[in-house]
Formats: sequence, structure tokens, C-alpha cells
Amino acid sequence: MTLLEVQHLTKNFGGLTANDDISFHMEKGELVGLIGPNGAGKTTLFNCISGLHAVTSGRIVFDGEDITPLKAHEVARRGLARTFQVYVAAGDLTVEENVMVGCFMKTASRSRARAHADQILRELNIRDLSDYMVSELPVAAQKRVTMATAIGSDPKLLLLDEVAAGLNPNEVEAIMASIRHVHDEMGITVMLIEHVMELVMKVTHRVIVLDYGRKIAEGDPESISTNPQVIKAYLGERYVKEQRSSAG
Ligand SMILES: Nc1ncnc2c1ncn2[C@@H]1O[C@H](COP(=O)(O)OP(=O)(O)OP(=O)(O)O)[C@@H](O)[C@H]1O
Ligand SMILES: [Mg+2]
Repeated sequence: MTLLEVQHLTKNFGGLTANDDISFHMEKGELVGLIGPNGAGKTTLFNCISGLHAVTSGRIVFDGEDITPLKAHEVARRGLARTFQVYVAAGDLTVEENVMVGCFMKTASRSRARAHADQILRELNIRDLSDYMVSELPVAAQKRVTMATAIGSDPKLLLLDEVAAGLNPNEVEAIMASIRHVHDEMGITVMLIEHVMELVMKVTHRVIVLDYGRKIAEGDPESISTNPQVIKAYLGERYVKEQRSSAG
């Protein structure tokens, strides 16, 4: 069953075309990666899908409904959640309270929101952080809290924008495990933007590549990692180097 369909999506900022006629679809249950160089338009695409930006042209269908004209909160209500590349901890909230904010999308009851938040924190292995202020946590933990908060709304589709950026290898392993858990055990369809190629190649089923706002390739991780056009536009500078350094 198709969960998300993006048709000929274009987003202009003044004279700049940040997303240029992008089309793709996602089946329910998939785990898809979105990669490309800095400024390729990845975050813009998430902003358009999640209703933060109005598209210039094109159409977005989510779970059978045309959501193109909807605002961000309306899109969220339909079961599409996201994290933000640059995370700003919400005020003076503890980890548990932060995740409860997500849960309040589904319930008005404080006790039910708390119980749900606790369950999600356990699922993501960060229950021991519950009482910390989010703003006091290291980046890796904050990233996990943003994931937990997004999951609080029980989304059908979760968009993750660089949750592994700036993390050390152990932290990347841990967040990889969490992403797998969210997908495999919690049954949430996931699309993730990531520059950490190891994560993309190990975790995703399919990869979409953007360059200068255009979709230049799409395929399974193996074929993407050997695609000459992708290597030239993006991977040449990163993945090949990473592979060499991990090989030697
Ligand atoms: N709100 C905005 N107003 C004007 N231009 C924008 C806006 N958001 C993004 N852009 C521009 O659109 C282009 C794509 O930016 P975007 O943030 O989507 O790239 P990205 O692929 O997420 O890059 P990165 O890997 O660095 O996060 C860039 O040239 C950026 O400067
Ligand atoms: Mg970005």
C-alpha cells in the first residue's frame, strides 16, 4: 500500500529552485534514505511534505489524501511526524515532559500521555534520562529525545532529518538500533536524511539522491553506492573516503 506519493514537487525561494520537479513514492513499511550534498534540497523537501512550506507546484498525497494545501499542524494530525535538523530544546522541559508534548497529539489526559511517554522512552532505551532537562543533555541524547517526541504522536510516517549528525561511532550504533527498533518493532514507516553513509547503507531499503534540487537517482543501497552519477555528485567525497579509511 502506498503511504506517501510526491508528484512533480517544485519549491522556489525567489530565484532559487530548492526542489525541482521531484517525484517518488513510499510504500507502507519502508525505510527510505534521502541523501545528497549540502544545499541539495533535502530539508526543504521535508519542510514541503510536512506542511511547513507551501509548495510552488506539485502534489503530495499521504495515506490516500491530498495534503498539498494543508498546514503543518494539520499534516501532523494525519499521522506524519518529523524531527528537525537543528534542534532547539523546548524551554525548561524535562525529557519526559518533552515526549509528553508529542503524546498530547493523541490524548488530552495527562496520565495517559505520561504513560505513553514512559513506554516510548523505554522502547528507545532512554528511560533513565526521563527527569533530566533536555537542554542539559549531550547532543546524542537530545537527538534521541527528538525522535521519542516525534513518535509520541503515533505517526504512520516518521521523517528524520540528520539524527546521526555529529555523533561518535558508538552513538551512531545506538541511534541505528533505535531507528531499526522504531521501524521493525513499532511498525513505523521511516524516511531519513543522513550524511552518515554507514547508517544509510546499513539501515535503509531504498535510497533517493538529490543534487541541486533534482532527484538524480533512486535504488537499493548497493546500487546507489556504485552509481557513477551519485559518486560524482556526492559519494565520491564521502563514502569512498570512509570505506578506504575503514579498510585501512
Ligand atoms: N527558508 C528558506 N529561504 C530561502 N532559501 C532557503 C530556505 N531554506 C532553504 N533554502 C535554500 O534552499 C537550498 C536547499 O537547502 P536545504 O536546507 O533544503 O538543503 P539540504 O539538502 O538540507 O542541505 P544540508 O545537507 O546542508 O542540510 C539551499 O540553497 C538553501 O540555502
Ligand atoms: Mg538539511
